[in-house]
Amino acid sequence: MFDLSGRVAMVTGASRGLGRADALALAAAGADVILTDLLVESDPAIEETAARSDSVMAQVMASQGGVHTEATAAEIRELGRRSVAIQLDVTDRQRVREVFDQVVEDYGSLDILVNSAGVSDHLGQIMDLSPELWHRDLEVNLTGAFNCTQAAWPHMRMRNYGRLIYKSTVSALQGGFGHASVATTGAGVLGLMRSMALEGARHRITSNAVVAGAIETEGFRTSPPSTVDRMVLRTATRELGRPEDIAAAVCYLASTEAAYVTGVALPVAGGPDLFTF
Ligand SMILES: NC(=O)c1ccc[n+]([C@@H]2O[C@H](COP(=O)([O-])OP(=O)(O)OC[C@H]3O[C@@H](n4cnc5c(N)ncnc54)[C@H](O)[C@@H]3O)[C@@H](O)[C@H]2O)c1
Repeated sequence: MFDLSGRVAMVTGASRGLGRADALALAAAGADVILTDLLVESDPAIEETAARSDSVMAQVMASQGGVHTEATAAEIRELGRRSVAIQLDVTDRQRVREVFDQVVEDYGSLDILVNSAGVSDHLGQIMDLSPELWHRDLEVNLTGAFNCTQAAWPHMRMRNYGRLIYKSTVSALQGGFGHASVATTGAGVLGLMRSMALEGARHRITSNAVVAGAIETEGFRTSPPSTVDRMVLRTATRELGRPEDIAAAVCYLASTEAAYVTGVALPVAGGPDLFTF
């Protein structure tokens, strides 16, 4: 679609779902891709790592073979691109910095950062939300994106080029019944994204977010069927989106052609806000 040859991309949360699809699409467009995730297949302590993250989803994936970080990197190498899978918890600031610096040393640059690591398994109305998981959601979804942005920034700034891409959700724009935690962290991400667009503009660093609707990923499948039905009925297209729909937008925002697009929260959501009655 767009030619990303010679670009080096880092995708967080690339083991599955949106991050995995982004990594494959960026590679298909020509980029070398570093996949990072809390979970990698060869981690001998993968189940303990998943348990420590306090995410039921991570525990299910770790115990049921739902982790594809290294397999996806291998798939990308078969396309003829450079690719590696790295175990990285985005909440671990020190390690985030070390990994990003090492990647630039090994690959020569870091041109594209896709922040896709996230947790979205903390649903419920206000009195059912847990303060511990609220804090976890802020740490992973918002502070994680902040940590990765700070680690990428000096490298992008030095080369006077960069593409920062964030993930947010339509509930960040509209609110979401039973989705306060996901909506709030998603809204925070948009604040970070727009501020980076302003600070990056003079350095040819663009910053944008893909605002995802109901996209069929492993994470999304944890939603109760009644919620899924309601979400589908709320879209103009009357269907769930696919991770590839998000990845196509990511490739556009990562491209040279999108140089004049910055500070944008781009909905890829099937038109959930089009109804007036
Ligand atoms: N799928 C959707 O419908 C949808 C809609 C709107 C927004 N989003 C957002 O997009 C992002 C990705 O969504 P998804 O559906 O692919 O989710 P997912 O749960 O399928 O995948 C998330 C990935 O992030 C990784 N991860 C979790 N905690 C991490 C940490 N601390 N450090 C590093 N990696 C970590 C997981 O291991 C997993 O591979 C999330 O932030 C989600 O909230 C998704």
